[in-house]
Amino acid sequence: MIKGDTEIYGVIGFPVKHSLSPVFQNEAFRSEGINAVYVAFEVKPEDFEEAIRGLRALNIKGVNVTLPYKEAVLKYADITSNDVKVISSANTLKFTSEGIEAYNTDWMGFLRSIKEHTDIKGKNVLVLGAGGASRAILFALQREEANIYLWNRTKSKAQQIAPLFGATVVDMPEDVIHEVDVIVNTTSVGLNENDPPLFNYEKIDEKHVVFDVIYKETELLKTAKLRGAKAIDGLDMLVYQGAESFKIWTGKEPPIKVMKKSVQGI
Ligand code: ATR
Repeated sequence: MIKGDTEIYGVIGFPVKHSLSPVFQNEAFRSEGINAVYVAFEVKPEDFEEAIRGLRALNIKGVNVTLPYKEAVLKYADITSNDVKVISSANTLKFTSEGIEAYNTDWMGFLRSIKEHTDIKGKNVLVLGAGGASRAILFALQREEANIYLWNRTKSKAQQIAPLFGATVVDMPEDVIHEVDVIVNTTSVGLNENDPPLFNYEKIDEKHVVFDVIYKETELLKTAKLRGAKAIDGLDMLVYQGAESFKIWTGKEPPIKVMKKSVQGI
């Protein structure tokens, strides 16, 4: 029951109404008997600064930060962990008496999800895209000592970030497709049914593990499956990043099974 002392958490983004985070975070609070609620805050870019200050003033305990604010939020953080600095992006804020603490749990979510399907250590991995999601994944891959190839539509962006993560920039995904064990799509391509493919997906074969951050079966994943490859969508990554946020906020072990179940088939 929501009472006078119920704590408030949420996700701040634009747009954010489609977010699954309220679904599994509220399930987690309920299942653990925590007196808290989690809501979505849709905030326009021109109101962002005011919103961050308002969250603090309203004694909100913590928020997830999603598109397009994961980078913009850094300037309001008082305490940032090293991973946030390297990735230049935060997806979790905790409001404490010391100030605003910023964390990045996206890379943890990715690592946990992919590790359930394959061992990454020392593997050859092709990463598609060079935005915020890509940087979080590159950070995770570097920690696992993967051999990373990086492709981006705008090559200069790939060249800018590659040295930070020890990645090698490639001109075309096809250049290394037969050398890599794992392919990771971090772009939004595939979100819409008629998105043109990033490369010729027919080049995927059964030795590949294909991971897409998008949490539905994209054309990339569909083709990968048809061609005998292992195909992993971004739903577990989403739940796992949220589970890490839950742990940061509450200090409790997240009820992963309950959280996963709550978003299945949504
Ligand atoms: P996110 O935080 O989700 O990573 P972002 O930082 O805006 O979002 O990055 C978007 C990524 O998707 C970029 O790598 C972008 O490529 P560009 O740097 O060339 O813009 C990639 N992307 C978006 N639409 C794309 C498309 N139609 N084809 C290829 N890449 C695309």
